[in-house]
Amino acid sequence: MADVVFKNVHKKFGDFIAVEGLDLSIEEGEFVSLLGPSGCGKTTTLRMLAGLEFPSSGEISIGDRVVNDLPPGKRDIAMVFQSYALYPHMSVEKNIAYPLKKRGVPRSEQGPMIARVAEMLQLTPLLSRKPRQLSGGQQQRVALGRALVRDPKVFLLDEPLSNLDAKLRGIMRAELVELHQRLGRTMVYVTHDQLEAMTMSDRIAVMYDKKLQQFAPPQEVYREPANRFVAGFIGMPSMNLIDGDLSQEGDRWMFRSGSISVPVGPLVADARGGEACLGVRPENLLLGEGPTPAVVQLVERTGHENIVVVEIEGGLRMTGRVPASTDWKTGETIQMSIQSEAAHVFAAGPTGRRLNIASVAVRP
Ligand SMILES: Nc1ncnc2c1ncn2[C@@H]1O[C@H](COP(=O)(O)OP(=O)(O)O)[C@@H](O)[C@H]1O
Ligand SMILES: [Mg+2]
Repeated sequence: MADVVFKNVHKKFGDFIAVEGLDLSIEEGEFVSLLGPSGCGKTTTLRMLAGLEFPSSGEISIGDRVVNDLPPGKRDIAMVFQSYALYPHMSVEKNIAYPLKKRGVPRSEQGPMIARVAEMLQLTPLLSRKPRQLSGGQQQRVALGRALVRDPKVFLLDEPLSNLDAKLRGIMRAELVELHQRLGRTMVYVTHDQLEAMTMSDRIAVMYDKKLQQFAPPQEVYREPANRFVAGFIGMPSMNLIDGDLSQEGDRWMFRSGSISVPVGPLVADARGGEACLGVRPENLLLGEGPTPAVVQLVERTGHENIVVVEIEGGLRMTGRVPASTDWKTGETIQMSIQSEAAHVFAAGPTGRRLNIASVAVRP
């Protein structure tokens, strides 16, 4: 059953449109990330769900209830903010107890509820400390504890890990996934970090320029990006995106750009020739073999593999990933080819739609 539904939701601040025509249906118990670059409308979307902003038009429901006119306190949600927003003068225990106190939960019932959450988040030994006596990760846990203590129907999290260092972020990602599995609650998680979205989510809602671009499980977003924006945003290093020309030759489609010509397809029925974009993941650029000479520009050694940037005739640069055992030097000329059966084709423009039929682009 859908638990959270946005139906054609628009949000304007004065004349400025922040969210446009959002349709999104989140299942009960799902972990959904809203992922996109800064300013694309993620926080605004989450705040509308929380009741901190109101849609200019459209409908939002939680459970079976339309919540458009419900204040935050009546929505059975809890929100964790990027800033943690802990009360500095209160102990950890009082911070966690605060939502209970505000709702008039009797003192005698608060104790066991706080103890349960503290145990779950490993905060029990820290209950009497003040926030300033905690590390960033511990403060983040307290903010989570405050959200968890009421056992709300839906959790909303806005970039909750962005103030932590890389190692701690990794640990907290795993903890959040485990917490979600244990609680089985619906979670809506805002992030600009594709790694967080890819590793934690059941489904990712990719947003760009006020609009939802794709809503699908992580593997699908990676393998079958719905458009050029999603293709370029998901994946590290980014997909190579090459502008060029698409034409039908006999019974097949060819993509050409400078010295590159790649057979593609099959394409969707209404695909037309003309300007288009070829997308090639770094793992589908075959370096060291093939017909095209390429000059090595940069080799980045990550330890378990090398990221290699090459330039071909005409100045086009592409990125590939190869085993760490390769030892090409900058300036060296090597051979390369594009694994054409794994290439993606998009219509021209920043959000040009996918033109090739998806399953064919999946590498076996
Ligand atoms: N209260 C507001 N008044 C005016 N503009 C706003 C307000 N809140 C957000 N915006 C604008 O709406 C756009 C989307 O913001 P936001 O949802 O915070 O983006 P994100 O969280 O994806 O970075 C931004 O351009 C932002 O400047
Ligand atoms: Mg934001």
